[in-house]
Formats: sequence, structure tokens, C-alpha cells
Amino acid sequence: MSDALNYLVKARPDAVGHYFAFLKACGTRLDPKTRNLISVISKVHAQTERGLRQYLGRALREGATPAEVLDALLMAFPMLGLAKIVWAVDIILALDLPEFQPGALGAPGDWHDVMATKGFKVGATQRAECDGRGLFVHRAEKEWRVYDSRCPHQTTNIPDLALQGCTLTCPKHEWQFDVRTGDCIAKGTSPLKRWPSKVVKGRLLANW
Ligand code: FES
Repeated sequence: MSDALNYLVKARPDAVGHYFAFLKACGTRLDPKTRNLISVISKVHAQTERGLRQYLGRALREGATPAEVLDALLMAFPMLGLAKIVWAVDIILALDLPEFQPGALGAPGDWHDVMATKGFKVGATQRAECDGRGLFVHRAEKEWRVYDSRCPHQTTNIPDLALQGCTLTCPKHEWQFDVRTGDCIAKGTSPLKRWPSKVVKGRLLANW
């Protein structure tokens, strides 16, 4: 909520309280995902960046997929127009959410040269930077696993120090992940985002 609304709630609770009660009562028959997607559209219409970021995060946490967010934006074209949709997409891209990368949305992504495979032991995990993206690379017996370093909770860029053995702990709210599977093993619910990878001539490549 904006500072101005916080101020009005405190200064005029008798009047502004009715406004919030009205908003709360409006969406009782909608599921949380739909409610938050509608709020995303209303924030784009009003062009409030903070509100867009807030409700986008809520919509994703309530199970909305990036494709559904884009559908909602495009369906609102008659109300929003292209300029506001582009404004919203620019903000979403600036958030650098891995699930909005073209590769994650089913569009052909680009292959990126992550590192040499020589000397990387089976069972080892290493953090890497590649073309502006943070990664955790794990080498299993028969495959490589490349994860985005952005936490699936609130996109914290998880640092190298967060890795202990096979457990990665996000410093912000302590969601924990097993780098052997990418699964969330404590506090949270969503796994790490895994990128497709392949080895070509001794180099590990990843696609996003
Ligand atoms: S942002 Fe990582 S646990 Fe919340």
C-alpha cells in the first residue's frame, strides 16, 4: 500500500475504512489467483509500478503462470492499449524473473556458454555467472543440472555463500533447496528454476 493510503487510513479511518471493506467484499467469490490477476490489470491501468510489482508477486505465488499473466495483459488490450502493456512488460522484464524468459515460456531461447566441464567433479555444485544471469551448476552421475540463482519465492539472487553441501538456503526467508533435484525442502513450496543444458566439445551450455 502506498504511503498516501497508509496516511489516509490513519488520518480518516472512518471514511477510508469503508473503501477497504468494499474492496475486500468485492472479490469474495473469486479465487485468489484470479483476484490478484485482476489487481495486476488495475495497477497497469493506473500505471503504479509498486502496485504492479506487489500484485504480480501475489498472483505468481497464488499459482498464476507467466503465460496467464501475459494473457491477462493482452486480454485487457481494449482498456489498456499497447503503450500500457509495453510499460508493464518493461517492468516485468526489469524484475528479471526466470520464469518470464522466452525459453521458460516455450519460445526458443538462446544457448549460453556457461563453463568448461573439465575438472568439474561428479557430485559437485558451483555458482556461476553467465551473460548476466546467476546460476548454480550441479553435476550428477549421468547429467548436468543448471538452476537459476533467483529464489522462486521473491526472486532474491541467492549468493555463493548460501550453498552448504547439497543444500542451498536463500538468505531472505530461508527457503531451502536440494541442488541434486532443485526441490524445495524447507519453509517453501516451489522448486528452483532449472534451465535445459547440454555439453558440447567440453563446454557446458544452458538455454534460456
Ligand atoms: S526470497 Fe528466497 S526465501 Fe524469500
